[in-house]
Amino acid sequence: MMKLLRLGLLILSVFSIQVATAAPQDKDAIERGTILVENRCSFCHKKTSLRELTQHSISRKGTEHLYKFFKRHHAPDEQACSDIISYLTSIIDEQ
Ligand code: HEC
Repeated sequence: MMKLLRLGLLILSVFSIQVATAAPQDKDAIERGTILVENRCSFCHKKTSLRELTQHSISRKGTEHLYKFFKRHHAPDEQACSDIISYLTSIIDEQ
């Protein structure tokens, strides 16, 4: 039981390190994310509103929440979801 718990914690921490470090600096991911957001999201969200929504969401619920949220919000595929989040975190940093 403890072993399983420890394994779970290890997987969790590796995952969060990846989310925290890999996402924002990856230029290719940001480029793919830009195109995806244009195609899938701009119909309902302008860039300024996306920036606000993302900031609000991350500060209140963390980045992990967005991964879950986009699964049922126009980005069910993991690669697209992660590219979109790279793009979104990059426009927050732009300010
Ligand atoms: C059909 C219109 C529509 C499309 C397309 C759409 N959204 Fe949304 N989005 C909404 C509405 C309405 C809300 C607020 C209600 C809600 O939480 O669902 C929202 C909420 C959000 C939020 C707030 C999340 C939170 O924690 O509450 C984010 C971030 C977001 N959208 C990003 C995106 C992204 C990125 C895409 C493209 C992959 C996208 N949206 C596509 C209508 C849309």
